[in-house]
Amino acid sequence: MNYSQRDAAAIWHPYTQHFRSPEFPVIKRAEGNYFYLDDGTRVLDAISSWWVNLHGHSHPAILERISRTMADLQQVMFAGFTHPDAVCLAERILGLFGGRYSKAFFSDNGSTSVEVALKMCFQYWSNQGSERKKIVAFKNSYHGDTFGAMSIAERSVFSRPFWPFLFEVEFVAPENPEELVEVLSRYPEEVAGLIYEPLVQGAGGMRFHGPELLDQSLALAKKAGILLIADEVMTGFGRTGELFASFHLEHQPDIVCLSKGLTGGVLPLGLTLSTEAIYRAFQDEDRNKTLFHGHSFTGNALSCSAALASLELLLREDCKEKIRWLERMHRDFSSHLRTLVAPIRDVRSLGTILAVDFETERSGYLSDLGLAMQKFFMDRGILLRPLGNTLYVLPPYSFGAAEVDRTYSSIETFIRSQF
Ligand SMILES: Cc1ncc(COP(=O)(O)O)c(C=O)c1O
Repeated sequence: MNYSQRDAAAIWHPYTQHFRSPEFPVIKRAEGNYFYLDDGTRVLDAISSWWVNLHGHSHPAILERISRTMADLQQVMFAGFTHPDAVCLAERILGLFGGRYSKAFFSDNGSTSVEVALKMCFQYWSNQGSERKKIVAFKNSYHGDTFGAMSIAERSVFSRPFWPFLFEVEFVAPENPEELVEVLSRYPEEVAGLIYEPLVQGAGGMRFHGPELLDQSLALAKKAGILLIADEVMTGFGRTGELFASFHLEHQPDIVCLSKGLTGGVLPLGLTLSTEAIYRAFQDEDRNKTLFHGHSFTGNALSCSAALASLELLLREDCKEKIRWLERMHRDFSSHLRTLVAPIRDVRSLGTILAVDFETERSGYLSDLGLAMQKFFMDRGILLRPLGNTLYVLPPYSFGAAEVDRTYSSIETFIRSQF
């Protein structure tokens, strides 16, 4: 049996009903903007491997940095011990936010960074004897697949079987701050925090929200004295054109969740940043006020070293220029798509993200058009994984003119072939 067949016999993959795609392609290696399959085909990674990769695969600077750390240290428990790369990374990340946050809490992925944020938020209030137990979240949001993260996200197809087990959350429309006003006045002493994906709701269909309205909601939340939690798991590290999407906004969060691009997409790692005021609420003679949260691999040394190398690349002028260039390319291509006669409901771009919604009978994640599009592009050696009838491009910053042209022209070919 080859690896595809052995995979089908042994592995249950994420987000997959296996009878629909009985055998998966086998990736032998990945370099730069491409995966190489075992049959010699190369596939262009136009969605950064689920939005994680920043600088291309097998980047020598990241590999070199990891192997240097690996020679000395791979993994140690992070309760009661520390190590140099974790310290350097925490300092570096906190520095990017100009001192607004005083502490970085490590975990393993985006969902855990959100779980930590929720615990910080609820316990911040309970440690002070407050009864605030309600979270306000945005309609159409997505924050991860663990139970807390599912609870604070729109009740969607992703979480349907678990709806009875999710804690209650007040959902408001990001484009209508009046709904937040209403919730805050209905529960003046109960709301603990507002969680949001700044500017772009990713898994919910790459929906964009203008900074003005979002800032209005954040201002209202600030005025009400509740905590703001920005989930920058997808939007962080340059995707929206700024280093973090919150930098487009006037009002800044109290807690920030980071993951995905944090390590350049090479190793798993999550970070939750907190202000000094939140951190202080947990420092008490009473040990019950401890944040009792940790994972076996919290602060993994190799992940931290990958993150340090990735950050160095990200902050270089050539990378910033690349992000600006991708932004211009997307903008021009969006304008071009708007001129096509095709059932396109909406085309939009922000930073390095481009999204196109198609008119379909059945819209949303389960639209069949999504699967058809995925196959169309894969047959042409391009990895694009639409969210239902929403096609999006979210490339690593290593994409050059050849990769961008190839992606755009196959999108145009798809549109012309279909409609
Ligand atoms: C905004 C946001 N938050 C959290 C997550 C969960 O991250 P992970 O898949 O690493 O658990 C995602 C994943 O797509 C995300 O887009």
